[in-house]
Amino acid sequence: MIEMKNFYITSPIYYVNDVPHIGHAYTSIACDVMARFKRLQGFDVRFLTGTDEHGQKVEKSALARGLDPQEFCDQVSQKFRELTQILQLSNDDFIRTTEARHKICAQEIWRRLEKRGYIYKGVYEGWYAVRDEAFYGEDEIVDGKAPSGAEVVWEKQESYFFKLSAFQEKLLMLYEAAPDFVLPAGKMSEVLSFVKSGLKDLSISRNTFSWGIKIPNDENHIMYVWLDALTNYISALGFADENAPLYQKFWCNTEGSPIHIVGKDILRFHAIYWPAFLMAADLPLPHSVFAHGWWTNNGQKISKSVGNVIDPLKELEWLRAIGCDNEVALDYFKYFLMREVPFGNDGDYNRTNFLARINSELANNIGNLAQRSLSMIYKNNNGEIVDISGYKDDDNPLLLAEKMRENFVKNMQNFAYDKAIYEVINFATICNQFINDKAPWLLKKEGKEKEMNEILSIIANCLAEISVVLEPFLPNLMRRLQNILNVDKGFKINDLNGVKISEPRALFPRLEEIIV
Ligand code: MSP
Repeated sequence: MIEMKNFYITSPIYYVNDVPHIGHAYTSIACDVMARFKRLQGFDVRFLTGTDEHGQKVEKSALARGLDPQEFCDQVSQKFRELTQILQLSNDDFIRTTEARHKICAQEIWRRLEKRGYIYKGVYEGWYAVRDEAFYGEDEIVDGKAPSGAEVVWEKQESYFFKLSAFQEKLLMLYEAAPDFVLPAGKMSEVLSFVKSGLKDLSISRNTFSWGIKIPNDENHIMYVWLDALTNYISALGFADENAPLYQKFWCNTEGSPIHIVGKDILRFHAIYWPAFLMAADLPLPHSVFAHGWWTNNGQKISKSVGNVIDPLKELEWLRAIGCDNEVALDYFKYFLMREVPFGNDGDYNRTNFLARINSELANNIGNLAQRSLSMIYKNNNGEIVDISGYKDDDNPLLLAEKMRENFVKNMQNFAYDKAIYEVINFATICNQFINDKAPWLLKKEGKEKEMNEILSIIANCLAEISVVLEPFLPNLMRRLQNILNVDKGFKINDLNGVKISEPRALFPRLEEIIV
C-alpha cells in the first residue's frame, strides 16, 4: 500500500467580538485553495478553522449587548461557521475555544510548561491593548497608542509569567535552521529584529476578569487569551492525549506542514510565542507560518469607525445582482482575492478592478476559448474528440501544457497564487492565439474536416488541463468544465481521444456593472 503524505493547514481562529468581514474570508479562502491543491496532489489533507472566543475583548462585546458571554459566542461563532459553508470551504473541522476538547488541551499545555519549570508567579505592570489582546513595551508605544493604532491601558496585576526570555537563542537557532519557518521570506527580518531586541518574559494569566480558561491549581486566574488560542491548532487534533491519532498524524507525521496562514498583524504571536510555548512543552513545531497582507477598500484602511468594512456576503450579493449564479459568484470572488494581489502583499479591493480582472482573464480569455471550441466540437463530428497524435506541427499548444503545469505547481508550493494563476492565463492566451491562427471555422468551409477536428480536439485537451490545475481556485466552474469534457481528476495530458462531450453552456458570464 502506498502511504499517503499528510498535510495540515490552519487559518487563524477568529475573534467573535464582531461578524465576519473580508479579512476573515481572505485568510480562509487562501487556506482552502491550498488544501484543495494538496488534495489533488495526493496528500491526505486536514484544514482547520474556527473561532477564538475568550478574552477581554469578547467579554466586553458580550456585555455591551447585554448578553451572557457564552450565549454571545454561540451566536457569533455560528456566523463564522455559516461563512465557511456559504463560501463552500473544504475545512475538515471547526474548533471553538469554548469547547471542552479545547479547554483540556490548553490546561494540559499549561501543566507541561509548569512541570518543566517555565512558569512563575509575579506582578505584571505595563501597557495592554484590549483590541489586539497584546502587551506592549514602553518603546513600542507611538503617540500614546499601540503600533497597530489600538488604545492602550496601563495595567498592574498579579500574574503568572512564561519564561519567554529563555527562548531567545533557541528561536534564533530555529530561524537559522529553518528559513522557511517564516514566510514570505521578507517577513523574517521583522521577526528577527523583535527577537534580537530582547525577549521579556510574558504575562500569561489574568485575574481582573473571568471570561477565559481557568488555569490548573489557581481558581483566581484565567489563561492569557493568546496562550489559550494558539493551542487550538493541536486541541482540534485531540492533543491532551499525545497518542491521539489525528495529533500523531497531522502534527507529528506530516510533509511540508503544519502550516499556519495568518495575517501580518498576528505574525509575532505565531512565529515567536507559539514555537516558544511548543519548545517549552517539548512538542514538535509547525513547518511554517505564512503572513499575508491586508486589504484596503478603495485605497482606504478598512475600519469599523470609518464604516468601510467589506462584507463578503454583500460582495456575493452584488455579483448575483449583476448576473452570476451563486456558484459562479463564489468562484469569481475567490479568484479575484487570490489573483489580484501577490499573497503576502497588501492589496486594494475595488469593484472596478474586480470587473476588469474577471472579464479579461476569465470571460474573455478562458471563457471565450471554451465557448468557441466546445460549441464547434458539439456541433460537428458527433461531439467527439479525435485522436491528435497525428498532429505534428510544433505550434501545438498542448506541448506547453506540461511546462505550464510544472510552473503552476512550483508557484503553488511557494504560495505564489497570483503567479500560479498567471501561468494558466498565459497558456489560455496561447491557445486562443492558436485557434485564431488555425481558424477551424474556415477549415470547415473548405471541407478540411479532419484538420478542423484535430485543432478543436487539441484545444479540448488544453481545456481539460486548465480545468485540472485551476480547480482549487474555481471549484464550481472547473467542475462544470470537466463535466462538459467528461474529464475526471486522473486526467493525463492527451487523454481525451474518443470522448464524447456533453452539451456545452456558457461558463463564464461577462460582468457589467449595473448603473442605477
Ligand atoms: N483571534 C486572533 C487569531 C488567533 S489565531 C490563534 C485574531 N482574530 S481576528 O478575527 O482579529 O483576525 C483574523 C484574521 O483576519 C487575521 O489574520 C487578520 O490579519 C485578518 N484580517 C483582519 N483585517 C484584515 C484585512 N483588512 N485584510 C486582510 N486580512 C485582515 O487575530
